[in-house]
Amino acid sequence: MAHGNKSDEKVVFVGDSRVRKGNGFIVPPDYTAYPGKSEAFIPNFLLKEWMVGVVVLVGFLVLTISEPAPLGYPADPGASVIPMPDWYFLFLYEYLKLPYASGDYVVLGTLGVSGVAFGALLLVPFLDTGKERRFYKRPITSALMFLSIIAVIFLTNSAWTHYEEQLEATGQVPEHIEREEKALERREQGLPPESNAKQAASDEVAIVDKDNPAMETLKKAGCITCHAADMNGQGNAPSLRGVGDSLDKETIAGIIKDGRGQMPSMHDQAINAGVTEEELDQLAEWLASQKTAE
Ligand code: HEC
Repeated sequence: MAHGNKSDEKVVFVGDSRVRKGNGFIVPPDYTAYPGKSEAFIPNFLLKEWMVGVVVLVGFLVLTISEPAPLGYPADPGASVIPMPDWYFLFLYEYLKLPYASGDYVVLGTLGVSGVAFGALLLVPFLDTGKERRFYKRPITSALMFLSIIAVIFLTNSAWTHYEEQLEATGQVPEHIEREEKALERREQGLPPESNAKQAASDEVAIVDKDNPAMETLKKAGCITCHAADMNGQGNAPSLRGVGDSLDKETIAGIIKDGRGQMPSMHDQAINAGVTEEELDQLAEWLASQKTAE
């Protein structure tokens, strides 16, 4: 016997587990009259559940380590989207659109109905006390269950149908699908992925006069949060390499002062960050000197 060395000690195990039967606080009932048919909830059943729980947890851990969550496309606040929840919440989403669950009745819809539903779930152990386990012999419980399943399927389906109608009506293609289609098209034409192509094209343009103090001003003024530290641009912000090809000093100074399109005016922010007017002027001049070498 593994426990202690008193060979005459009688060790009683609980059920089929390796837990010794103690004479402690909780003494499980003796189920030896029903071998294999039943077992004590504490500790036998719980221990098994915990074992299963541990295996599932380790499984999840292995999965998350071996396959990290994918990064989606960068968010584009300018894109118009029809907001949609994940598929398993679609039925709730659709339910909250019903006239008696929204608008003036939103409290009824959110608290009232879900309160009744979850309250009923809490009451199940007290209401459904019959010995009968076969579902067709428990008409009320089973009917409620089937009703909920049908309602969930129906609501999920109508949520999705509604979404597709909206897409069609507004002529939208969901962003991720659009980008996927574009990527597929490029692949079929044998082109490299767009992001790589952009990077490669932009990298060919060198930064002119890299050691100019204006490079520091660019950082200090906060330009690189959008235009990136390598000036290659990111998101909506275009690359500033070779910007002098198309813009002169006055135009650039104007863009810094007043902003343009999605770029806010940077003047005050730069001054607050300790950049002087003179440095801003030099920055504009330096940017205007960024020309692609011919
Ligand atoms: C909040 C993000 C953001 C910051 C910070 C920012 N920019 Fe921009 N910048 C943009 C965007 C977006 C555009 C494109 C604007 C448009 O034309 O719609 C742009 C355009 C420009 C352009 C014109 C580029 C071209 O090829 O047309 C210049 C020059 C420029 N920025 C310089 C700067 C400078 C200098 C700073 C720092 C003082 C700065 N930007 C800070 C977002 C930013």
